[in-house]
Amino acid sequence: MSAWPELKRGDNGHLLWAGADTVELARRFGTPLYVYDEERIRQACRHFLRAVSPPAPEMPPGQIFYAGKAFLTLALVRLIREEGLGLDVVSGGELYTALAAGFPPEKIAFHGNNKQPREVEEAVRAGVGLFVADNFRELDLLEEVLSRQGRSQDLLLRVAPGVEAHTHEYVLTGQQDSKFGFDLASGQLVEAARRVAKSPVLRFRGLHCHIGSQILDRQPYLEAARVMVGAMARVKEEAGLETKILDMGGGFGIHYLPEDHPPDPAQVIRAVAEEVARGCRERGMDIPALAFEPGRSVVGEAALALYTVGAVKRVPGLRTYVSVDGGMGDNPRPALYGASYWACPAARPSAPPEEEVRIVGRFCESGDVLIPRIEMPRLEPGEVVAVFSAGAYQYSMASNYNRCPRPAVVLIGEGGKPEVIVARESYHDLLSHDRVPPRLR
Ligand code: LLP
Repeated sequence: MSAWPELKRGDNGHLLWAGADTVELARRFGTPLYVYDEERIRQACRHFLRAVSPPAPEMPPGQIFYAGKAFLTLALVRLIREEGLGLDVVSGGELYTALAAGFPPEKIAFHGNNKQPREVEEAVRAGVGLFVADNFRELDLLEEVLSRQGRSQDLLLRVAPGVEAHTHEYVLTGQQDSKFGFDLASGQLVEAARRVAKSPVLRFRGLHCHIGSQILDRQPYLEAARVMVGAMARVKEEAGLETKILDMGGGFGIHYLPEDHPPDPAQVIRAVAEEVARGCRERGMDIPALAFEPGRSVVGEAALALYTVGAVKRVPGLRTYVSVDGGMGDNPRPALYGASYWACPAARPSAPPEEEVRIVGRFCESGDVLIPRIEMPRLEPGEVVAVFSAGAYQYSMASNYNRCPRPAVVLIGEGGKPEVIVARESYHDLLSHDRVPPRLR
């Protein structure tokens, strides 16, 4: 495997990203650096919107909510808003970011398995379009807040559909043994639906599920679609509620390795839509509007992470360790999920491989491995390495472990001009929340 599918080089041979010289970007902004290609994000948004308008003949137009957990900053919210997507938020902080960037609250769906009373209050006050209720405690909280504020709220009930997707256990969410959603088999969902039906302040709009993330196969989606149509029927028969919106979550897999073959999300959406339409016709139910919540597939492939090589340790006969200036602090995914990545030297992306190396980070533990095995030309200290598909769940999961400041993020828009959208943290930032009790001064 020698090259990333769409690798582009400048006249000097350097890897280009969104038309910009990656070696130059590293020099100018420092490393570790996250570099997003605005056009790729926009294209992904448009691809999803086209896929649901409508998702299948004779279906109502669907909706796309970008899952902000994958990567969310003020600039990104503006972009998502410009492209006309909705936004899925899972915390008061994500909601706050969205509102601060002027995102229309009516296009926000509020998720989470343990929304805090304060967050429920904030969401209601903001007027979020959809509240995705995960459990009975949230129905209690929501009703209480709504009654107090004299409002009502559109909501979806999240279902644990009991579907297994082939992905890492920690990113698997649709199975029955899950902290997320109302259990279907034991009748929890119907019980919740009956409660909503009786409530003067809860307006039932439909059902939601999310079966997992980085799913590379359409089968689990189809299975989930069948289960959800069954759930729609039960909610209708046993609680008299009509599902107008069926939100099938996100989870669309992306390329991390050159040999990965994720299905086109538009095709998965089409297949799900046909399955839902067929199921509804069979049961004599109205066909709901479909919604999806892609996160990774909108931003994942749009960014590179750039690192600078430091120490190169050759253990004779065993292994070569190439240490870079980032690692599990800005990308915990390999350590957490055994996630795989592909990388190349930014100045010579197509240089022939000379040795197998392990790319490791600068954090003080042996588990800080970015890429366990990859063929590389002999890398020298100071050389810039580009890691692909770095746009989702990296910066958003980054930490200050070892008191390392989090990296900067730049966005390259039309015309190839890189602009900082998240500034690099400073040592000063690291201290900004520390307090010293007087007795220790
Ligand atoms: N909707 C819901 C309700 C979700 O829980 C998620 C992701 C999404 C949508 C978006 O899924 P996506 O399209 O991005 O796969 N940190 C893990 C991924 C956790 C995903 C959590 N939920 C990782 O780095 O792989």
